[in-house]
Amino acid sequence: MNGIEKPILDACCGSRMFWFDKQNPNVEFCDIRELSYSRSWGPYDSVRHIEIHPDTVCDFTDLPFPDKSYKLVAFDPPHLVRAGDTAWLTLKYGKLDENWPQMIHDGFWECMRVLDDYGTLIFKWSEVQIPLRDVLKAIGAEPLFGHRSGKHSNTHWMAFMKFPEDMEDEDETLQRTQTQRTT
Ligand SMILES: C[S@@+](CC[C@H](N)C(=O)[O-])C[C@H]1O[C@@H](n2cnc3c(N)ncnc32)[C@H](O)[C@@H]1O
Repeated sequence: MNGIEKPILDACCGSRMFWFDKQNPNVEFCDIRELSYSRSWGPYDSVRHIEIHPDTVCDFTDLPFPDKSYKLVAFDPPHLVRAGDTAWLTLKYGKLDENWPQMIHDGFWECMRVLDDYGTLIFKWSEVQIPLRDVLKAIGAEPLFGHRSGKHSNTHWMAFMKFPEDMEDEDETLQRTQTQRTT
């Protein structure tokens, strides 16, 4: 285990909206931002609140946890590339830049690194601006199964399992990235 004895990791928890128990003690909640924000988005809009308070502030491409620490990892990264920096959706969900394929690839495989062998990764992707096929191509992995949800059926929930043999190629890439970071 990981020394903090939590079996579940949420690698980018945001406001924890999809959690039934937002204080679930079995979950290590992580995000790159710590934020309290309230604003009205127009004269007829009521005040909206954003609260992001992770247990650990960190980058999902460089998680501060040992290999094989978690039994279950949830990965719900930002999915917008075109949105204003002060728009509600950007503040609420974050935003990707043009380097998104590399970032999503590195985040996905970093989640796999901290996942135990035969552990489960749940990946959520909202296909609003970037098609799912482009995301799966960037990652270089295929889900076991998935389900579409949302008003326009463009939110995909996908399940992956960490098979140790699939990690061999990615281990080399991760080691190269970590060496580049420390030199
Ligand atoms: C789609 S939202 C997550 C929503 C969340 N699942 C919920 O239920 O409320 C994506 C989150 O990823 C975070 N994020 C963006 N880049 C990140 C990174 N490199 N490492 C960790 N978190 C990141 C954003 O701050 C944002 O809170």
